[in-house]
Amino acid sequence: MLDAFLTMLPEPRPGMVPFSTFMERSLYDPQWGYYSSGEVDFGYGGDFWTYPHRLSPWFGELVARRILSYWEGGPFCVVDVAAGHGKFLRDIGNALRRERPEWASDLRVIALDKSDANLEVEGVEFVHASAQDLCDVLPRPFVGALVANELFDALAADVYRVCDGVRERLVVGTDDPIDVVLDDPEQDRVWYGAWEAVDGEPYLEARADVRPDRAQMVAAHGPETAPIALAMGALLAEPGARAAAFVFDYGGAAQHIWDTGTREPHIRTYGGQREHDPFETPSLIDLTWDVDFTWIAEKLRQGGAEVVFYGVQGALDPDFLLWSPPWRDEIVSQCIGEGFEPMEALLEAWNVVQNFYVAPGFRILAAASPGMPDLGLGTSDPLWLDELMTTPNTLPLEALRARFEEDAEAIIAALRPGGSPVDDLCDQGLYQRRWEVLEVLRGAQGEP
Ligand SMILES: C[S@@+](CC[C@H](N)C(=O)[O-])C[C@H]1O[C@@H](n2cnc3c(N)ncnc32)[C@H](O)[C@@H]1O
Repeated sequence: MLDAFLTMLPEPRPGMVPFSTFMERSLYDPQWGYYSSGEVDFGYGGDFWTYPHRLSPWFGELVARRILSYWEGGPFCVVDVAAGHGKFLRDIGNALRRERPEWASDLRVIALDKSDANLEVEGVEFVHASAQDLCDVLPRPFVGALVANELFDALAADVYRVCDGVRERLVVGTDDPIDVVLDDPEQDRVWYGAWEAVDGEPYLEARADVRPDRAQMVAAHGPETAPIALAMGALLAEPGARAAAFVFDYGGAAQHIWDTGTREPHIRTYGGQREHDPFETPSLIDLTWDVDFTWIAEKLRQGGAEVVFYGVQGALDPDFLLWSPPWRDEIVSQCIGEGFEPMEALLEAWNVVQNFYVAPGFRILAAASPGMPDLGLGTSDPLWLDELMTTPNTLPLEALRARFEEDAEAIIAALRPGGSPVDDLCDQGLYQRRWEVLEVLRGAQGEP
């Protein structure tokens, strides 16, 4: 498979291709791409899980609540852009139909994905297309909602660095090493990389003024990001459109992405496949990168949409429904169903929910047609919150157990996110940060 992959690479210079070309083929080659061939193993216990799946169906329920803040009946279309196996979309559709049974016949739910191998759920329409072509394949003027969970991080990306003002991108190949060895030279197949000067790349031009005091900065960026965000913005902004877009992903504002403090380029592999080497086994592995939300926001606005919210993922649940009955008990029951002992299930459920609220780097960006009502997400993060959001978040579970001698009821009563401030039950710092986050969500100003 690898040999076939290599012979099919286009060669802008002998033996070397931009990293984005390598990544595109690894993930989306029609025959052997990780996503397009169906090699991907979504979900808990698979290669990786995402929050809408780990917290299914409740994550979808929360999105449905935001959608219900502006759906007033009549034809309405919910589109999951990059739907994967489609469970997130199914959950949103189920919640909307249950809440508004009288409007259910007007609701269309569309799973859009450029890979056609992964859809698992029934009762949703599937559109095989790239998100870049949204405006060509969706009903217009568009009335409804776009959701995109972990789309932007999965686009093929280039790796850039800026060193003493010189802008370069990574090219990789199997020929003679030029200046970067990417793989263990002991291996049969050695991939080499080189930094190639780039001029006039719009993304790098736009980031030229970020932290000019740093001698070297490294980041990843997908060439498809701008066209997709522009298409979303245009769809929302068209006369007659009445819609919102909810973009969920990991990443941060431009300052956060470019100020890594390391030479790591924000590119990584995920889940159970970490041990794989992407250069040795392209197409068996997920490659992903941290998203620059500032760039997405800029392109949505250029497309004509209004960016109405940017902040932590937890803003999706302003009422803390996830850790209130009955959802809290259902989440615990689901964990028991997955094989956890009751006590373990409680702690697993608490961890997932708590991480949902404060997980470092998980963000929502929401955009809307001009003049839409408030989506009820609160007020955006100011940029300075980035530092707060990347502080490690761990719970002293052993201490919890000891304190309550495994008394589940007492622990449940004590673990109330957003409830009264706790004493010494948990990491005080964690709660302190959480309160600060909530203060910001409720009151502060700022945008990406
Ligand atoms: C990390 S998965 C996320 C899937 C799903 N949203 C979830 O949360 O599990 C990335 C998905 O993006 C899709 N994708 C990547 N590029 C795309 C594009 N240009 N247009 C539409 N879908 C795309 C892939 O096929 C894959 O299903």
